[in-house]
Amino acid sequence: MNVLMIAGEEEIHIKPLYQILMKNQCGNIKQCRTLIKHQCVKVNGIIETNMNYLVQQDDVIEVLDKIIHSQPFVYYIMNKPSGYVCANHDTHYPCVTDLLERHDCHCVGRLDKETTGLLLLTNDSSMIKKLLLPQFHVAKKYLVEVQKPLCYELVSIFLQGVIIDGAKQCLPADLVIIDSYHCYVTIHEGKYHQIKKMFLSCQNCVVKLKRVQFAGIDLDDELKLGEYRELTKAEFQKLKEVMIQ
Ligand code: URA
Repeated sequence: MNVLMIAGEEEIHIKPLYQILMKNQCGNIKQCRTLIKHQCVKVNGIIETNMNYLVQQDDVIEVLDKIIHSQPFVYYIMNKPSGYVCANHDTHYPCVTDLLERHDCHCVGRLDKETTGLLLLTNDSSMIKKLLLPQFHVAKKYLVEVQKPLCYELVSIFLQGVIIDGAKQCLPADLVIIDSYHCYVTIHEGKYHQIKKMFLSCQNCVVKLKRVQFAGIDLDDELKLGEYRELTKAEFQKLKEVMIQ
């Protein structure tokens, strides 16, 4: 599998030169722009001084005569374990990014510390920003275990949009009952502790939460808790589809 190949084919992965330098750890934004300005960067053997030159997949980029990656972006799917926080640094708890072999990735959205399941991580910050834009209404599906038996009225209550925190109106959510204590809930937004608060508003309580789908991408059953892999081409395509809606 070569996600970098996929990335190069798509407009969203064509990035300005200074960003490619940054992702190759050539320095911060200012340092990378200075390198370009001072003629230290070549594209296909020719000095390039335009910071915003859009790097193509096949371009050969040299910084101070050393070749760097022209497509340095990675996109991972992880099965998040409980006990890890979705952050890059934390004073109390281990972070999901500690489980990765590289240190320049960030989570696409957040799951609570005890929540398990599908989490996307990438070093492509513009992709993260796009995926979290409210207008895209990215679908997130959760397997939920609750404390008290579920009733069928909840299906229409969730469909109408639950009010959380006493005043915040949620978008319609899809609830499918599996058995008395388990259901699937699909939401299209990401308010803080949203699923837990939705059930609290309905006099119930979430005891276990696992994300099983994000933007049409399913959690890979082969991934054990804490394991991750690169997205497949088909999975990557699903993310792109969400962003062009
Ligand atoms: N809703 C929650 O309450 N927690 C999560 O981790 C995700 C959605």
